[in-house]
Amino acid sequence: MRDYSIDFLKVTEEAAIAAYPWIGSGEKLAADQAATNAMREHLNRIDFDGKIVIGEGELDEAPMLYINEEVGSGQGDQLDIAVDPIEGTTPTVNAEPNAFAVIAAAPRGTMLHAPDIYMEKMVVGPQAAGNIDIDAPLADNLQAIAKAEGKRVQDLQIAVQKRDRHHKIIEIAREYGAKVQLFNDGDITYAIATCLDNHTIDLFVGTGGAPEGVVAAVAVKCLGGDMQARLLPQTDEEIKRCKKMGILSPKKALRHEDLIDAKQCVFSATGITENILLQAIKVNANQMCTTHSLLLNSDQHKVHYITSDHLKKTTNDPLKEEIIL
Ligand code: FBP
Repeated sequence: MRDYSIDFLKVTEEAAIAAYPWIGSGEKLAADQAATNAMREHLNRIDFDGKIVIGEGELDEAPMLYINEEVGSGQGDQLDIAVDPIEGTTPTVNAEPNAFAVIAAAPRGTMLHAPDIYMEKMVVGPQAAGNIDIDAPLADNLQAIAKAEGKRVQDLQIAVQKRDRHHKIIEIAREYGAKVQLFNDGDITYAIATCLDNHTIDLFVGTGGAPEGVVAAVAVKCLGGDMQARLLPQTDEEIKRCKKMGILSPKKALRHEDLIDAKQCVFSATGITENILLQAIKVNANQMCTTHSLLLNSDQHKVHYITSDHLKKTTNDPLKEEIIL
């Protein structure tokens, strides 16, 4: 697989730029549409043979970046692609923190095909990799993580999405003395933060979207962390959707390699509003804009934080000067 890092960086940068006008607009559909169009257009400029595995929904639900849509020029490596043109549409249109544009890619056949249903997730960084078990009680996991990291349970910081469904997790974590960090939206960010030394989060746990779970699994893979998960189909219809995607036992625990089973993978995210990893997109007085991205490649053992200044594109005809926004 050739190195697609810069290609996919451009894709998330362009999706974030397209989402920018919709920050604070209250218009979720329009924001998502703009970012999706930009992402698709830029994906199709890349020489590769891509297939959307995690996207905007089934063909009958989404006109673009739908599951099984072919993207890229068709020439080059066969890749599975997971996209979320806006991870955090609500924070985008409310101008709140924690929205970014994100893409993950890996060789064809290596990513879980997950429907857009809920998924239980548990993620730790490299130091505690191999020491989590989603089937075991949370208290046992806290003890195993603390031991692996050479800390006390009281020193562990646990990120949990602020939702009523997480009441029990929060209660148990606090009962054992762990520090609970609650966040409103954007669970991919908190899964990644467990793997980065400059953040204090030891464990991300809770239930969120399955598509976000697969995207997070790729980033965590690039960073040497560990993730386990379980799909949570709530109706017969959701069980059918899982089976249609080839998941024969939808409620079984999923190990990291069930989510992503590739040695090589790439992940790029570009901030729309600020979050704990990335600054927000900024537009300057002369309509230039600056984006901040996180780029990961399993081959490189590096975390790239990339700041790009996007200049006005000019042509010979000043009247046709193209402005990026
Ligand atoms: P969207 O991009 O669909 O707005 O998702 C944001 C998010 O916070 C995800 O990060 C998370 O997995 C999911 O929502 C949780 O779902 P819910 O808001 O239904 O609790």
